[in-house]
Amino acid sequence: MLASALRAFFLWLSDRRWMAGIALGTPFLRRMPLRFVAGTTLDEAVAAVRKLNTAGASATLDVLGESVDGRVAADRAAAAYVTAIERIASEGLDANVSIKLTQMGLELGVDECIDVLNPVVAAGDRTGIFVRIDMEGSATTDRTLEIVARLRAAGHDVGPVVQSYLHRSPADVERLANDGVRVRVCKGAYAEPPEIAHQDRVAIGDAFVSMCEELLRAGAYPGVATHDPDMIERVALFAREHAIGADAFEFQMLYGVRRDLQRQLLEKGYRVRVYVPYGTEWYPYFMRRLAERPANVLFVLRSIFGERS
Ligand code: FDA
Repeated sequence: MLASALRAFFLWLSDRRWMAGIALGTPFLRRMPLRFVAGTTLDEAVAAVRKLNTAGASATLDVLGESVDGRVAADRAAAAYVTAIERIASEGLDANVSIKLTQMGLELGVDECIDVLNPVVAAGDRTGIFVRIDMEGSATTDRTLEIVARLRAAGHDVGPVVQSYLHRSPADVERLANDGVRVRVCKGAYAEPPEIAHQDRVAIGDAFVSMCEELLRAGAYPGVATHDPDMIERVALFAREHAIGADAFEFQMLYGVRRDLQRQLLEKGYRVRVYVPYGTEWYPYFMRRLAERPANVLFVLRSIFGERS
């Protein structure tokens, strides 16, 4: 009960721009996200990726930011991604990128968003770096999938995310699996009503596993994005039982979350990709991480005050 109230509270906070302004302007609060964000600059993110690569993990870079309201800001965000892609290539890092379409001007319209994205996917084509399109709130799902489909039809190597809490997702996954699309499966991180999304953890987990199974059966190289040991065990078991190799999928986790589990999976020979966010616009991302696990508040405060966690 308390956990779901806290979850709702942090998700509410994640949407409050005035609160973001306060957080970004307060030195004490500015230190909060360090556990979950690689830094504010690309150099810091590259250093984090290098460390992950040395440990055997791949990465996906996220230039933090969402929901821009003008073309200039959208183009600026796209340019930051082009720079990131070129840097991944020039440094020979094992990494790709993850993009939020609201940051690329989705609210300006689907056609304009594709215009904004074109330099990014062109950089992906030039360098052979895959571009993942993150999934945001349910008001954006149709448009996000449409943009992914149009970019793929134009020959770009992009893939979407599906959220297992959405009632619509099994149908989306069936279509994507048939087309052999490289999908990331996650549970979903936004506040959605019962008409649109399961609220029950068991239903969300069962849907998560069955979507991963369908994509594995289709040979579509799914990204299994979770820190939940039960999900991981169930997907790994399915792969073993169906003689699907550990190179046919990857586990994906967030930077700073369950690093112990990331290590264990690598030691067992699984592929692990870590989602590495960086930049100054950390506020909504950080609030969603607190919503997923309210105990993170204590964890973060302890690290700020220098105690061992
Ligand atoms: P779940 O919430 O079920 O918790 C299981 C256990 O995992 C917890 O007991 C705890 O140990 C650990 N854990 C989970 N979250 C934690 C946290 N924040 N801090 C510390 N420990 C934590 N969502 C979305 O809507 N669109 C997207 O595009 C993406 N993209 C994405 C990429 C990647 C690589 C990951 C891992 C996740 C996403 N998500 C996402 C977020 C996802 O939808 C979901 O909110 C979180 O992964 C939490 O669900 P889990 O299954 O990981 O754990």
